[in-house]
Amino acid sequence: MEIKYQRVEGKKDNLGMPCYEHRFDGLVISSDSTLIDMDFVIKSLKQSYWAGTRPEAVVRRAWAHSIGMGIYDEKTGAQVAMMRVVTDFAVYAHAFDVWVDPNHRGKGYSKVMMSFFTSYPELKSVIRIQLTTSDAHTLYSQFGFGHLKHPERFLEVWRDADTSAKPDIGI
Ligand SMILES: CC(C)(COP(=O)(O)OP(=O)(O)OC[C@H]1O[C@@H](n2cnc3c(N)ncnc32)[C@H](O)[C@@H]1OP(=O)(O)O)[C@@H](O)C(=O)NCCC(=O)NCCS
Repeated sequence: MEIKYQRVEGKKDNLGMPCYEHRFDGLVISSDSTLIDMDFVIKSLKQSYWAGTRPEAVVRRAWAHSIGMGIYDEKTGAQVAMMRVVTDFAVYAHAFDVWVDPNHRGKGYSKVMMSFFTSYPELKSVIRIQLTTSDAHTLYSQFGFGHLKHPERFLEVWRDADTSAKPDIGI
């Protein structure tokens, strides 16, 4: 889908950068932080295979420090889809928490979100976009995503999270 980005004057994304929207089929896709329904986010992630046991405070902290992109009913404002983008707005971006409400699946909304994200005006200089998936490879391959080009260069460490910390203050 071709996205016609409209800058939303006077509104910002969660990271304080300009935000944008695109209207289609009675819906609006937007990065306006004030539209995000955190109850929708929390309820959805509880059902997800990757964050089902994630403490609510950690979810809130992650969303507060990412660009939250959502699809909303234009009339009611009800949220029907979401994704979260971690980025430096310069060279790197990573997509997380891609979710479409079960009642609205199969209508192309995840593809609208990926179109909105991958051509997003504030991410034009980003040279590497990453995400992980267990089974939606053919969704993302439509937007150019493939396996790591140099897997031998990527290192990671998984560790137990310290959930005794207060996520709202970070110590
Ligand atoms: C995956 C998900 C986001 C797809 O959203 P959607 O709006 O229903 O999907 P769309 O209608 O935009 O179509 C997705 C396309 O990707 C394909 N696809 C690939 N893997 C898929 C998967 N695991 N689930 C759904 N569709 C998938 C579909 O067949 C469809 O192909 P098409 O373009 O040939 O029609 C949605 O099913 C969902 O929220 N699932 C639960 C959470 C999840 O798995 N998120 C992704 C984590 S990486």
